[in-house]
Amino acid sequence: MNRKVTVVGAGNVGATLAQRLADKEVADVVLIDILEGIPQGKGLDIRQAGPVEGSDSQVIGTNDYADTAGSDVVVITAGIARKPGMSRDDLLNTNYKIVKECTEKALKASPNTIIIVVSNPLDAMCQVAYKVAGIPKQRVFGMAGVLDSARMRTFIAMELGVSVDNVHAFVLGGHGDTMVPLPRFSTVAGVPITELMSAERVDAICKRTASGGAEIVGYLKTGSAYYAPSASTAEMVEAVLKDKHKILPSCCYLEGEFGIKGLYVGVPAQLGAKGVEKIWEIKLTDPENAALQKSAAAVKELVDALKL
Ligand SMILES: NC(=O)c1ccc[n+]([C@@H]2O[C@H](COP(=O)([O-])OP(=O)(O)OC[C@H]3O[C@@H](n4cnc5c(N)ncnc54)[C@H](O)[C@@H]3O)[C@@H](O)[C@H]2O)c1
Repeated sequence: MNRKVTVVGAGNVGATLAQRLADKEVADVVLIDILEGIPQGKGLDIRQAGPVEGSDSQVIGTNDYADTAGSDVVVITAGIARKPGMSRDDLLNTNYKIVKECTEKALKASPNTIIIVVSNPLDAMCQVAYKVAGIPKQRVFGMAGVLDSARMRTFIAMELGVSVDNVHAFVLGGHGDTMVPLPRFSTVAGVPITELMSAERVDAICKRTASGGAEIVGYLKTGSAYYAPSASTAEMVEAVLKDKHKILPSCCYLEGEFGIKGLYVGVPAQLGAKGVEKIWEIKLTDPENAALQKSAAAVKELVDALKL
C-alpha cells in the first residue's frame, strides 16, 4: 500500500474500523492506544486475516506515535463511550482531554494529515480537534451523519421491504437528540418517502433514527454501537483516499453556511483528497431550518462549556 491511515483508539469502533479498512485493502493501518498490548494484539490479529480476505494491507498496533508518521488520514476514536442512562454530552470533559492529546500527538507525527473525528460528543470534539490542530478547516471533520443516515436508511428499507441499495436518507445537524432527519430528501429509487408512507410512519422513523444510538446502548449495556459507526467512518476514509468527490453528511466547520458561524455541525459535504472540498448548502424549508438552528444551538452550548 502507499496510503497510510492511523486509527487512534483500539477499542470497539477503532479496531472494527481498522479491520474494515484492511479487509477493503484501502490503506496500511496503524492502530494506536494508550493500553499496552491491546493495539498490538488486535493489529496482528487483523493482519492475520489478510491471507483469508485477500488483503495485503499492513496492519500494526502500537503505543508510539512515531509509528504513525506520514499518515494520510488520522481517525480519532479514542475516549470513553456511553453506558445506559448517559447522553453523548456526558462524555464531554473526559473526551475533551483525550481528543486534545491525541490530536496534538498525531499531528506532530503527520503534519499534512486529514483528521476525521469520531469520539463523542462528536460536534464538540471536532471543534476541539480543529482548535488544537490549527490546520485548515477542510482537513478536520467528523463522522456522524453517515451513521445517522445509515440508520434511517435501514429503518426505511425495513418499513417498505425494499433493498437498502434503493434507499437514500438525509440527516443534518448535531449528533444528538436534536439531529435533523430530512424526509423530503430521503428517497426510495428517487421517490421521496413522504409519498410512500403515512406521515405517522415517517415521523416514527425520524424519531427512531434520532434515538438510534441509545437503542443500541440499551441492549449492549456495557458500551455503544460500533459496527455501523466503523462502516460509516470507513466510507469517509475511502472517499478521501480515493479522491471520490463524494457527498456525505459530515460534521464540518461552518462560517456562515446555513446561517451558522464558527461552529461544527453536520451538513452535506463533498469529500475528496483535500478533505472537505465543498459544503452543499441546500435550501431548507422554514421548519427544517428552525430544527437545524435548534440543533446548532445545542452544539454551541456544549462548545461554550469547554471555553476553548
Ligand atoms: N461519531 C459517532 O457517530 C460515534 C459512533 C460510535 C461511537 N462513537 C464514540 O467513539 C468513541 C469510542 O467508542 P468505542 O466504542 O470504540 O469505545 P471503547 O471504550 O471500546 O474504545 C475507546 C478506546 O480509546 C482508548 N483511549 C482512551 N484514551 C486514549 C488516549 N489518550 N489515547 C489513545 N487511546 C485512548 C481506550 O483505551 C479504548 O481502547 C466514544 O467516544 C464513542 O462515544 C462515536
